[in-house]
Amino acid sequence: MPADKKKMTEKDFIPKPYTHTLETGSVTWESPSNIALVKYWGKKKNQIPENPSLSFTLNKCKTITTLSFTKKLKEDHTFSFDIYLDGEKKADFKPKIQTFFERIEIYLPFLKKYVFKIETENTFPHSSGIASSASGMSALALCLMSIEKQLLDADVSHKEDEGPFTQKYFNQKASFLARLGSGSACRSIEGALIAWGKTEGIEGSTDLFGIKYPYQVHENFKNYQDTILLVDKGEKQVSSTVGHNLMYNHPYALNRFQQAHQNLETLKEILGSGDLDAFNALVESEALTLHAMMMTSMPYFILMKPNTLEIINRIWNFRQKTGLPVSFTLDAGANVHVLYPHNESQKILQFIKSELVVYCQNGHYICDQIGLGANQTQ
Ligand code: DP6
Repeated sequence: MPADKKKMTEKDFIPKPYTHTLETGSVTWESPSNIALVKYWGKKKNQIPENPSLSFTLNKCKTITTLSFTKKLKEDHTFSFDIYLDGEKKADFKPKIQTFFERIEIYLPFLKKYVFKIETENTFPHSSGIASSASGMSALALCLMSIEKQLLDADVSHKEDEGPFTQKYFNQKASFLARLGSGSACRSIEGALIAWGKTEGIEGSTDLFGIKYPYQVHENFKNYQDTILLVDKGEKQVSSTVGHNLMYNHPYALNRFQQAHQNLETLKEILGSGDLDAFNALVESEALTLHAMMMTSMPYFILMKPNTLEIINRIWNFRQKTGLPVSFTLDAGANVHVLYPHNESQKILQFIKSELVVYCQNGHYICDQIGLGANQTQ
């Protein structure tokens, strides 16, 4: 296993030969979604991000996944698995998991030796427009890591740096695997703030997996609130994967990638100082830049809806009128994440209910806040 100080590479995630056999069993993990403040948009081969990103881990929006496994009587050369969402078999999810298993097989050589049943559910409504790939892929990666741990009979040491298979290594490999399923999923293993992507200003940052943000964070950001306004619950017209690919040969790509490094530097200062005005300006600019990249790619597309813009304008008016520190961010869709500090919750939630909820589809919204990461429940 890796010595901590040396630079980690993909090879560090290829396990030693397994020492134990397992016939059958099951594990369950619940893993949260996350919302990026500095956005990941654009990737290279093997799910390597073009720029660093930083996210808040969420608390309530989670995927709960149970992975049951039974050893095959005779090993064949296929991945054998079925997926169930809310108890219903989902054949249409299989290609994504097949690709995931193909990408991670070299790091988890037991995958073809078992028949798997993947049972999954989300705490948020399935068709809410909230991407379940981050929470879903991270939950599955964690389940697979729990199996690998048993095959190595490794007692995960909770002392960060001790033993051959530390808690730290477990989380790093889970994040590494999750990344190969969906980039943003690598930021869902832990909390409260996670950085992914090599950048000078963040010590230990790497393209391979997400790391806990290693610097002091001001009190203002403790328990930060994220109220998710569900503007459009339909399927996205353009998937994130297609969107990322449109950053190849994009006229503004290089500037954007550089800007993300600078914005992370600036955000580092803001997170330390607690400057909420600067925070609001930076996260809103990041959100609008993400959508500007979509609007200026070829082909171009717009994921915001008229109600997304209504909400943004009302947040700006309210902020100007009251001076309260509320801002928004967006992911690759029409929904709006309204961000604000915990101690201003009462007034801001009141504003959300009286002025913004009317722009949500069927009045639906989710009150979430910054969270600490995934949990094993079985
Ligand atoms: C806009 O992680 O969903 O939410 O790696 O292709 O699975 P894939 O993409 P995905 O992209 C998320 C992009 C984003 C910004 C972010 O979360 O940083």
